[in-house]
Parts: sequence; structure tokens; C-alpha cells
Amino acid sequence: MKLCMIGTGYVGLVSGTCFADIGNDVICTDVDKNKIQNLNSGIIPIYEPGLDEMVKRNIKQGRLTFSDDVSKSIKKSDIVFICVGTPTNKNNNAADLKNVFKVANNIKSNLNKYKIIVTKSTVPVTTGDKIEKILKKNKFNSKFDVVSNPEFLREGEAIRDFVVPDRVVVGTESKKALKIMRSLYLPIIKKTARFFATSRRCAELIKYTSNAFLATKISFINEVANLCEVSGVNIEDISIGMGLDQRIGERFLRAGPGYGGSCFPKDTKAIVTLAKKFKINLSIVSSVIKSNENRSKILLNRILKISKNKVKNKIITFLGATFKANTDDMRESPCLKLIPPLISKGAKINYYEPTGPKKELKKFKNVNFSNNVLDATKKADLIIIHTEWNEFKQLNLKKLTKNKNVIVYDMRNIYSPEKMKKNGIKYYGIGR
Ligand SMILES: NC(=O)c1ccc[n+]([C@@H]2O[C@H](COP(=O)([O-])OP(=O)(O)OC[C@H]3O[C@@H](n4cnc5c(N)ncnc54)[C@H](O)[C@@H]3O)[C@@H](O)[C@H]2O)c1
Repeated sequence: MKLCMIGTGYVGLVSGTCFADIGNDVICTDVDKNKIQNLNSGIIPIYEPGLDEMVKRNIKQGRLTFSDDVSKSIKKSDIVFICVGTPTNKNNNAADLKNVFKVANNIKSNLNKYKIIVTKSTVPVTTGDKIEKILKKNKFNSKFDVVSNPEFLREGEAIRDFVVPDRVVVGTESKKALKIMRSLYLPIIKKTARFFATSRRCAELIKYTSNAFLATKISFINEVANLCEVSGVNIEDISIGMGLDQRIGERFLRAGPGYGGSCFPKDTKAIVTLAKKFKINLSIVSSVIKSNENRSKILLNRILKISKNKVKNKIITFLGATFKANTDDMRESPCLKLIPPLISKGAKINYYEPTGPKKELKKFKNVNFSNNVLDATKKADLIIIHTEWNEFKQLNLKKLTKNKNVIVYDMRNIYSPEKMKKNGIKYYGIGR
């Protein structure tokens, strides 16, 4: 099939490449000319394990191309995927759909034959109806179907999640479009995935409710971790004890610095705002948003407490800056809420991040990037393990903290408090 992915970001590039890998002809297109130019020169704009090799292989086999001519790419394709960003509208916390509607208008002008228009971007319920309305006015009088096919991939595991997902959700009222979408996903459904066909509005809402529920799980366990810290219980044991119940499940029950990334923060806000429009109060999700916002304050206070309120001129080292491991994505990373107040209290920040220095941290005075763990921690007074990258899982903390009065604050509970105590390391975790 001839596919076109509009928006070559985390979702468009990964899903486009994976579709090419199962035998489709895919054009990934974007308004960002620089990005397309880089991709055409073999430079992959994001860090995603396995992607580089997969992109190169599919380019070589002629199934994957990149173009900054969005209109031409639409014309050449049978199925057009909308994969542009839907960030938070800062004025009202709703999903900002200006990119989506810009793309819809572009498709309208280039709808030269029957096409399926698929929204992969996370969009509020009824967005598909609005796209359909726009496309009805197309000058070619072409027929089309607008389908919702939300994306559930996780950054860092994106290829695996795309190729062997738990489910593929397709929302449409058109039998013709459903048949084509099912055959597109057939190689994937054949493996393990459950293909769930539903209405377009339902598919749109499933994406938001899934993210809101996962964010709820994370915030729940983080609040329980606060209780563990004052009651002498280990949160890790709570997570295991709860997770063994199959009704609950063990995933997303790990206490940490709070959820971040490009999805949960914006999608929780968007679903609450959307529900308000329908005069529905999603009070649980509203509490989750507040709880997660409060998380950084709690962690900041904890940092100050373990530093005995003396952070002025102290060197605080962050190991990892991204919101989670195996991605270079800094969007809503918890460290972005911790570093500014620490700087304003006079602390000096060092950080090491496996995917390199971050532009989001460049603007701050007193924030330095180091090329490795050793350099970053050499003069540290406090080491914060912020992201659970594999390379932080076997650190020789005894050596790193030797001859110094260094404190280790492990926000990912990687190490054993007992072992740390035995080695004479001043060590704090989350909820233990
Ligand atoms: N990142 C994730 O893990 C993830 C997972 C599931 C769903 N989603 C959803 O997928 C959507 C895309 O997310 P992302 O992380 O890939 O975003 P992104 O910011 O990485 O990429 C979006 C791309 O769209 C391009 N773009 C914007 N306007 C355009 C236009 N008019 N024409 C062509 N290209 C245009 C941008 O230049 C950018 O390259 C969002 O709605 C997001 O919520 C993201």
C-alpha cells in the first residue's frame, strides 16, 4: 500500500518506518525542511533504539522515502496518516489542534482520489468529525474516509510496541476503510495483537482514557511512597504485593519522580478540559494532575532536607536528564522542575545524560554538562539518579563517593538501601 505519514516526529518516523518494514511504500513528510534534509542524508533526528538501522534498511530497499513536499506526498498516497503534534494550549489546557487542522486543509487541497485519512495524533473526541467536515469541501469531489487509529507506542520501546502491540485500535463507521485498515495491520495482528474495531469517537477517547489511567497508576504509587517514607515500609514491596493481583498488574506501579514526557502531562489536561466542555467533571484525573505537579515540590523539599538545607555553592549532579531511559525526549522531564529552584537557591548543577547535552538546560547559568559519569560526579556533594538508564544500574558508588561526604539520592530505586548502608554510603531512595 502507498502510505504517507504527515509529521516525521517520534510517532510519524517510527510508525512510517515500521509500516515500510512490513512491505508498504511509505513517504514520511514534514514541514521541517531541515529534519527531512537530515533524514535524506542518513541523520536520524531522534534517539530510539533500533530505529537507525531500520530506517537505513528500508531506504536501501526503496520502500521508505522522505519529502518536505507535503502536498505531493498526499497526492501520491492511498492512506494518509496525520502524525503532527497536539501540544497543550497554554490558554485553556485543551489540546492545541492547529497543526491537525492545517494538515486537514492541506489534504483537502490534494485529495485527488479516494483516500483514507487516519488520525494517529492524539486528538479529542469529535476531532475526526471536524476533519471530515473540512474534507467534504474538497475541490476534486473525491470520496474519502476519516479513521481514528491512536498510537500507543512508548518512546524507548517504540519499535517493539509498534510491531508487537497489545492492541491495534481502529475507529471508523466505514466498512471499506475498516477492511483496508485491517489488511494494512494484518502482519502485526497475525503475531499477537488484538485488532479492536470500534467507532471513530470511541477510538479517539480510548487513547485519552488509557493515558489518564496510566498517569493515575503512577501518581497513586507515588503518593503511597510518601506514606511509606514516614511509616517504615518499603514501596518496592508494596508494588510487588499489589502487582501480583492480576486485576491490578505490576506495570506502572513504580514510584519515582513523577510522570513526564510528551504525552501524559498534556493528555491528562486535555481530557479534563474536554470533559468540562461536555459538563462532566473528571475529578480523579484532575487530582492526578495536581498530585503530579505537587510531586516536584515534594522531591525538592526532600533534596533540601537531605542536604540539611545547605545547597548554596554545593555541587548537585544529575545522572540522566530525560524523563525516562532510552529516549532523548526532554519534554516535561521532572528535572526541569527541580533544577531551576535549586539554582535559585545557589546550587551548582552538573549533569550527565547518555544522549548528550540538552538545549533545555543550556539557558541556565551554573548548569554544566559532563561527558561521563566520572567527570559529572567528581566534585559532587549530592548525586541524584534521575533517569533509569542501564548504565547507571551498575555504578561503583563506593568508588564514586570515596573520601567525600557525598549523598546519593536515587529517584529510581535502583540500588539496595541495605547494601548502601553496608558500604557506608549516605543513600536515600523513594518510599523506602
Ligand atoms: N511521542 C510519543 O511517545 C507519542 C505516543 C503516542 C501518541 N503520540 C501522539 O502523536 C502525535 C505526534 O507526537 P510526536 O511525539 O511524534 O510529535 P513530534 O513533535 O515529535 O513530531 C511532530 C512533527 O510534526 C511536524 N508538523 C507540524 N505541523 C505540520 C504540518 N502542518 N505539516 C507537516 N508536518 C508538520 C513537526 O515539524 C514535527 O516534526 C501527538 O499527538 C502525540 O500526542 C505521541
